[in-house]
Amino acid sequence: MLNFELYNPTNYVFGKGQTEKLSKLVPANAKVLLAYGGGSIFKNGVHEAVVAALKDFKIIEFGGIEPNPRFETLLKAVEIVKNENITFILAVGGGSVIDGVKFISGATHYEGNPIDILKKKVLFTDLSKVIPFGTVLTLPATGSEMNSGAVVTIEATQEKLAIGGSALFPKFSICDPTVVSSLPKRQIQNGIIDAYTHVMEQYLTYPTDALLQDRIAEGILQTLVEIGPSVVENPSDYKLASNFMWSATMALNGLIQKGVPSDWATHMIGHELTALYEIDHARTLAIIAPSLYRVMFETKKDKLAQYGERIFHVTGNSIDEKANQAIEKTIEFFHKMGMKTKLSENTNDYQKTADFIVNRFDERGWKALGEKQNITLEKVKEIVEMSY
Ligand code: NZQ
Ligand code: ZN
Repeated sequence: MLNFELYNPTNYVFGKGQTEKLSKLVPANAKVLLAYGGGSIFKNGVHEAVVAALKDFKIIEFGGIEPNPRFETLLKAVEIVKNENITFILAVGGGSVIDGVKFISGATHYEGNPIDILKKKVLFTDLSKVIPFGTVLTLPATGSEMNSGAVVTIEATQEKLAIGGSALFPKFSICDPTVVSSLPKRQIQNGIIDAYTHVMEQYLTYPTDALLQDRIAEGILQTLVEIGPSVVENPSDYKLASNFMWSATMALNGLIQKGVPSDWATHMIGHELTALYEIDHARTLAIIAPSLYRVMFETKKDKLAQYGERIFHVTGNSIDEKANQAIEKTIEFFHKMGMKTKLSENTNDYQKTADFIVNRFDERGWKALGEKQNITLEKVKEIVEMSY
């Protein structure tokens, strides 16, 4: 097992009716910016519950944070935080709103040009230089409610870039699974596949002696396979919704990444597809992952075979046979969850995508990705072209 430090200060507040606790979780006398997205929280009662719980606080609202939050929009919120002397931000929404709030939190006291936060991937580690924030999660998917990462899109250049740092953990996250009942099917499908792929990025590498991490990762994968199709059909079923929400958090709250190598190339390539074609985040992962497993087969086949045996109970005479079946089973699951796994099924304009992405990575100095840093730009090209 590799050495590691495990630090996660987020107070994770899970279950029905937990929104009531907001009045105790938000610091007394705080002046609060309530940040939200396109307005779903007005339709499902979440806004009402939040405002009721915070009736004794001064609140200013900021709406309109888009899916794949835009740098340009977030800067407007930064101005409000500065001008209104906001002391606490509450993100009420899915990964986009939470990520947007992480950016606002860090950008408010940032002294340079805010675009450098993204372009230079500034690491926020000083708690005295960020605005504290909490979240009310409305969409299980990203794990952003219990991690310190964020992904923000620069509209002007169509770039989607990640930031983070230990100062960007939410102070608390209220995770009430009943929010799942108002989600469109498409978003539930996305949530399951995003969480699934988060586990795969941290698990599907090469065998190490991290036995417990493997079993925890497999537990999350198995749970998602078991509940995924039914939660889409029965989003009001509390058993399904609660297991979905907790699995999605566990997939990316840092725990399963400790002591093991991780990949993340599917995400890095996928972000480009969202930036270029506005394909939903999870759907880009379902397009790229199968091709990546095929192109990187020699690196990943031992773990693929283990995954195939333990999650899908595949049998076979060799590692290669089991590993290949594991890829097929993964694609089957993605299809069952409503994913279209070819780029050409998601956009008509795909022919030059591979060259574009490779050039971009090259310009950014990203010469190699993956757990062994052996996903070279040639391999990236092959992966993207295979996904057409
Ligand atoms: O904006 P509103 O009106 O709220 O509607 C949203 C949005 O249209 C809607 N929605 C959310 N909760 C709802 C609801 N509709 C009805 N009922 C509810 N309870 O769902 C739509 C999508 O929301 P969004 O927040 O964009 O989805 P998601 O949570 O999947 O977040 C995706 C973003 O997170 C980033 C992605 O790249 C993408 O930008 N990620 C963040 C990560 C992190 N911070 O760790 C890791 C991930 O890999 C991912 O990259
Ligand atoms: Zn993701």
